[in-house]
Amino acid sequence: MTDHSLLDDLRGSGRAVGAFNAILLEHAEAIVAGAEEARLPVILQISQNAVRYHGSLAPFATACLSLASSASVPVVVHLDHAEDETLIDQAVALGIRSVMFDAATLPYAENVARTRDVVRRCHAAGCRVEAELGAIGGKDGAHAPGVRTDPAEATAFTAATGVDALAVAVGSVHAMSRRDASLDNALIERLRAAVAVPLVLHGSSGVSDEGLREAVRRGITKVNIGTLLNRVLTSRVRGVLTDDADLSDPRKYLAPGRDAVRAEVARMLRLLAGEPVP
Ligand code: G3H
Ligand code: ZN
Repeated sequence: MTDHSLLDDLRGSGRAVGAFNAILLEHAEAIVAGAEEARLPVILQISQNAVRYHGSLAPFATACLSLASSASVPVVVHLDHAEDETLIDQAVALGIRSVMFDAATLPYAENVARTRDVVRRCHAAGCRVEAELGAIGGKDGAHAPGVRTDPAEATAFTAATGVDALAVAVGSVHAMSRRDASLDNALIERLRAAVAVPLVLHGSSGVSDEGLREAVRRGITKVNIGTLLNRVLTSRVRGVLTDDADLSDPRKYLAPGRDAVRAEVARMLRLLAGEPVP
């Protein structure tokens, strides 16, 4: 199953898919294991920042693609927040078939022109493209505080670029440590009615369970989650290391961290699918 059919099948269903950011192999293993536990599809994301951390895309992306191909549920490997077109070309060459081109901080006309070019090249290779629209006319990314996506501009942008999914600014902000963001649900509904492709919520770690449920009911189809998993992983690792100051084998603290992430991924996927969760 491609990202395209996964998101298109869910659009308008009142359900969404979780898209989780992986930095370490342990994240990727936990994301796939969590999806298998929930028996639900998942999107496994590698951001441009994670690529910068590793120094290159290929080693980690190859591992993620291998995990995806042997999973018992659909796992779509996605390149997240790519601002560099050459990184997108590398991803496509490696076999990644879902990318986000992030030109949201550019002026609108430049965002359209560069996104359209990325879409043309990606579609020729069978790769789907998500793009982002923030403040009217660009210049503010979609996840700066106070920024909102305009439905008319979103409609025009989608038609002009041919993107397959659109990240919108509706009140979430990246990397929040508290889950108290308040989303503009009326705007989500207006965007859902105006825009012909699935809508993506970024910065979802800052939104409560109930806030996410409501955003999905109103029309969000892909929910990007990064910080929340890092908080779960780090808190578990910190707990294990605090309990045993002599521990040195990383497997002894990373395995409990990975296990905690697996459980949270399964829980979030069920929540986004509209299933009851603890
Ligand atoms: O693209 C990734 C997401 O927007 C993650 O945001 O770390 O705030 O959950 P978050
Ligand atoms: Zn994001």
